[in-house]
Amino acid sequence: MFGRFTRITKDQVLGALKTVQEPELHQDLVTLNMVKDIVIEDSRVAFTVTLTTPACPLRHQIEAEARAAVLKVPGVREVEVKFDAQVRRDSRIPTKLDVPIKNIVAVGSGKGGVGKTTVAVNLAVALAQMGAKVGILDADIYGPNVPMMLGVDTLPPLTGEQITPAFAHGVEIMSIGFLVPDGEALIWRGPMLHKAIQQLFTDVAWGIPSGAGAAGLDYLIVDLPPGTGDAQLSLSQLVPLTGGILVSTPQEVALSDARRGFTAFQRLNVPVLGIVENMAGDVFGVGGGEQAAAALGVPFLGRIALEPAIRAGGDEGKPAVACCPESPQAEAFRAIAQKVAAQVSVLNARRTATARSPIRLELGAN
Ligand SMILES: Nc1ncnc2c1ncn2[C@@H]1O[C@H](COP(=O)(O)OP(=O)(O)OP(=O)(O)O)[C@@H](O)[C@H]1O
Ligand SMILES: [Mg+2]
Repeated sequence: MFGRFTRITKDQVLGALKTVQEPELHQDLVTLNMVKDIVIEDSRVAFTVTLTTPACPLRHQIEAEARAAVLKVPGVREVEVKFDAQVRRDSRIPTKLDVPIKNIVAVGSGKGGVGKTTVAVNLAVALAQMGAKVGILDADIYGPNVPMMLGVDTLPPLTGEQITPAFAHGVEIMSIGFLVPDGEALIWRGPMLHKAIQQLFTDVAWGIPSGAGAAGLDYLIVDLPPGTGDAQLSLSQLVPLTGGILVSTPQEVALSDARRGFTAFQRLNVPVLGIVENMAGDVFGVGGGEQAAAALGVPFLGRIALEPAIRAGGDEGKPAVACCPESPQAEAFRAIAQKVAAQVSVLNARRTATARSPIRLELGAN
């Protein structure tokens, strides 16, 4: 009877998990350092998988595949898969600016009024709801309306040298609109604008309200002004932008606008994470954003319907994902947030891989 009992080892568990691929990063969980805290008690195995984002869209797939793989180890009867997350950093950011921010994602478009700010605030709140530490930076000098859409109008009182961001719906908020009277920033050009945008990074205590602290915000979402002008240029000169999201309307003519936005990001060396089609429905039609994504060869991130409740929520400072989490719009925003987070993880993994290869070559040469 005792002869049949074989002790399960950690190596066997790791061996099994080495057969499980992270579906987006295309490497196995062990090589990616995603497995920890393996506990073996008789025929029961528990372990934790550290995801590269709490907004991982493929958590269930990873869980099912990891469980199935470990159940194949002789003697294993029961498997418990736990999850936590550690968002990987865009390693270029600290080389340019000393800010506690791991990734910066800009939301732009080829033309105004298509829903950039709406997408930016819902994306930020959705990521925070999923457990990420998130900030939103309103870089729209022409119409800074992130504060309105998140229902805040002032900053907390100054306590130290740095400005503490406002905090609402789980998101840290900073806006040019907090600092200057309505309309004043409109006349800013070149160096003045550059300095102002720089201060929005360096003079702000990012990471404090959400408790991210020195570990850094997982994601800073930047709401860009319409067009392809000075603010975009200043921003991309100041910090590496991890990726850009384009918002497009569903009309067939949207392609030329999306192309303009795409070219602007490309010129600034910002990888385009994909296109969001906004305001889809009877009035403007459906499909233009998706077609633009196909034509430009970038991922289609999702479609948001034209829905009066979205506008009302924006006016009242209650983003759809916060006020009506059960609505189809909130569901669509969450799916977009997951895709964006996944794309950021993929980009960072690729950058790490390319950054590593020259070092390997060097070592090999010695
Ligand atoms: N899917 C939607 N359904 C209904 N109204 C929407 C939708 N998306 C955005 N809106 C509304 O359309 C208006 C413009 O949206 P928003 O301010 O987000 O666009 P924008 O691209 O940021 O504009 P700007 O170029 O002026 O910065 C707002 O009143 C917003 O509430
Ligand atoms: Mg806007």
